Amino acid sequence: MSGAPLPGAAPAAGGGARIIDGKAVAAALRAEIARRVAALPFRPGLRVVRVGEDPASVVYVRTKDRAALAAGFDSATLVLPAETSEAELLATVARLNADPAVDGILVQLPLPPQIRSAAVIEAIDPAKDVDGFHPLNAGRLASGRTDGLIPCTPKGVMHLLRHAGVPLAGARALVLGRSQIVGRPMAQLLLAADCTVTIAHSRTRDLPAECRRAEILVVAAGRAEMVRGDWIAPGAAVIDVGMNRLPDGRLTGDVAFAEARAVAGWITPAPGGVGPMTVACLLENTLEAALARRG
Ligand code: GUN
Repeated sequence: MSGAPLPGAAPAAGGGARIIDGKAVAAALRAEIARRVAALPFRPGLRVVRVGEDPASVVYVRTKDRAALAAGFDSATLVLPAETSEAELLATVARLNADPAVDGILVQLPLPPQIRSAAVIEAIDPAKDVDGFHPLNAGRLASGRTDGLIPCTPKGVMHLLRHAGVPLAGARALVLGRSQIVGRPMAQLLLAADCTVTIAHSRTRDLPAECRRAEILVVAAGRAEMVRGDWIAPGAAVIDVGMNRLPDGRLTGDVAFAEARAVAGWITPAPGGVGPMTVACLLENTLEAALARRG
């Protein structure tokens, strides 16, 4: 392939990608949400439910709770034992659905194997579904409506693309990963922003070639440093949703950052890119749910 940049994807001056600082964008969004919350006559209520002690979930849930408290929300975490039955978790969800002080409910995934996550997600009041995973909210998004509760990670990616000034309309976007949490809603949001969208996954033929066609590449594959520098078109925007722990303890994304940075036009680091935006968008969704519920 030629080394010429793709249209609409200008490389950074001086070579190398512009780094999209998710931490800074998230901090600004959180500060704005805190200002809006401080002006309300009530505190939006968030309840995060964790079942068991999955180490990554422990960290994620603590981060979400602290961010919610710092932004002035009425936030609390409910921790249930790993052996909790599906019926017990459904009873907890029903109680939170009925509690008028609760605007947002988040049940952290993954759940232990005896609990069907789909049954739990479908039990959450769609008006309190700040993850945007309920079929009603997912269906709204799939019908092209972007005014409802939208999953936090893809919503955060759209904030980052817009903040960086990446041209969206008409751009060829590829989403690597087809999960309910990231890949599918991500593709819907890019489509709503007038991108030409491809969803690739573990069974896609010649994945590197598919990736090289993309002007916007969103990687949510769940494999450390899977996307190499020669998978990336010169000037492309590369958004790394991955978070993997290497055997030496270091955290890394799904993109080989140093290689990719030399080719891309924009790139998010991992950690410090998409992750902080997921948390900020959870706060944004909780505020939106509170405003919609309380008028
Ligand atoms: N596990 C990993 N990411 C998420 C998320 O965004 N929401 C929930 N509920 N669980 C997760």
